[in-house]
Amino acid sequence: MPKRPHHAPSNPVSGLCSPARAPLPDELTPLLGNRTPRQFMRRYWQKKPLLIRQAFPDIAAPLARDELFELADLEDVESRLITHFRKAWNLEHGPFAPDELPSVRKREWTLLVQGVNLHDDRAHALMNRFRFIPDARLDDLMISYATDGGGVGPHFDSYDVFLLQVHGKRRWRIGAQRDLSLKPGLPLKVLQHFEPEQEWVLEPGDMLYLPPHIAHDGIAEGECMTASIGFRAPSAHELTAQFLYHLAERTGDAPDSARANARYRDPGQEPVANPAALPALLIERVGAILANVDWSEKDIAEFLGTYLSEPKANVVFDSPERALNEQKFVERAKKTGIELDRKTILLYDARSFFVNGEAAALSSKLKKWLPELADTRRLEAKRFVTLTDESSMTGLLHEWYRAGWIRMGALP
Ligand code: SIN
Ligand code: CO
Repeated sequence: MPKRPHHAPSNPVSGLCSPARAPLPDELTPLLGNRTPRQFMRRYWQKKPLLIRQAFPDIAAPLARDELFELADLEDVESRLITHFRKAWNLEHGPFAPDELPSVRKREWTLLVQGVNLHDDRAHALMNRFRFIPDARLDDLMISYATDGGGVGPHFDSYDVFLLQVHGKRRWRIGAQRDLSLKPGLPLKVLQHFEPEQEWVLEPGDMLYLPPHIAHDGIAEGECMTASIGFRAPSAHELTAQFLYHLAERTGDAPDSARANARYRDPGQEPVANPAALPALLIERVGAILANVDWSEKDIAEFLGTYLSEPKANVVFDSPERALNEQKFVERAKKTGIELDRKTILLYDARSFFVNGEAAALSSKLKKWLPELADTRRLEAKRFVTLTDESSMTGLLHEWYRAGWIRMGALP
C-alpha cells in the first residue's frame, strides 16, 4: 500500500498529534446538541433518533474527494459503488481504479468507503470524538461521496449510526415504520414501502443519530460527503458460534488434558440389524461429553477481549522498515512519546489485556501504564520517561513497535 504522509504533529512537546478528546460523561458538548454523554446515552442511545445541528462547527471533510477515490483504489480498503442510473439500483464492490468510477458530473451515484479511520489520521481523530461509547462497541468510520441525487435508497440498518455531514448538503428522511420488508431482486437492501415521518436538510457540521431499525433515506443535494460513525453489535448466533470455537481452542483444554482426551466409547454396543440407524446410546454418550463443557465469567471475558480486539480480515500493519533496537527505541520514545497505531485495538479488564486479538495477563506492573495507554491511546514523552524503569514495559512496547502496532511521535 502506498504510504501517505503522516500529518504534521501539532504538539511540540511530545511530537504526537494533539489528541482528539471525547467529551467526559458529564460534560456538556455541542457534539450532542449541548447535552452530556450521560444524557444522550440515557435518552437516545438505542432508543430514538436525534438531529444535532452544528455538532461539529467549522468541520472540514477529513479527506478531499480525490483522496477518498485514492483509498477506494486500494486492495485492503473495502469500498462499494452504488448507482441509480435510469431508476435501476446497481452495486459494485471495489477496489476501483479512478477510471472505473463514473464522472463526478454524472448524477445519482455514491461511493462508500469503509474503515477510513484505519487509513487516515483525520478520520481516526474524528472517530475518537465518539469514545464516550466503549471501544468494544465502536466499529468504524465510513465516508460516502455522492453526486447530486445520489444515495443508497430508503433502508434500515441493524446498528446504531451517527451520520455526520462533512461536505455539501444531504436531505434525510426518516421513519419508525414497522414494515421493514425489502424490495425483492435488488442488489442492495431497499425498503418496499418507505413511510418517512421527518425530514431535514443537513449541512456541514450537522449530524443525525439513528438507533437500529429506523428507516432512512439520504439524498445528496449537489455533491456531498457524509461520515458514518458505525457501531458493532454481534448477533447472538455469531457470539455463540465464536464463543464455542474459543472454548474449544482455550489453552486450559490443551490436547493432553483429561477432558480433551476423553473419547467416545461403547463397550455395551449390541449387534444391529439396521446398520444405518443412529444408535440411541451414541446420542446419549455424546450428550454426556457435551454436558461436561463448562465455562466461567473469565472465559467469557477472555473470549470477548480477543474477539473484539481482533483486527478485521483486511487489516495489515506496517512494521517499521528499519526498526530501532530496544535501547534506541526507548531513547527516542523518551523524546517523542508513543501512540497506538490507528489500526491497533487495545482493550483490558481487571485481569487481562487484549491487543489485536491476543490476550495476556495484566500484571500489577502492567497495571501502572497499560490501561492508561489503552484509554488515551498514547503515552506522552514525559510520561514515558517516568515509566522506563519498568523493563516489562519497554520490552513489550518495543515488540509492539516492531509489529507496527504502535508509532513513535516525530522528533521535536
Ligand atoms: C450514506 O452515507 O450514503 C449512507 C449511510 C446510511 O444510510 O447508512
Ligand atoms: Co443506513
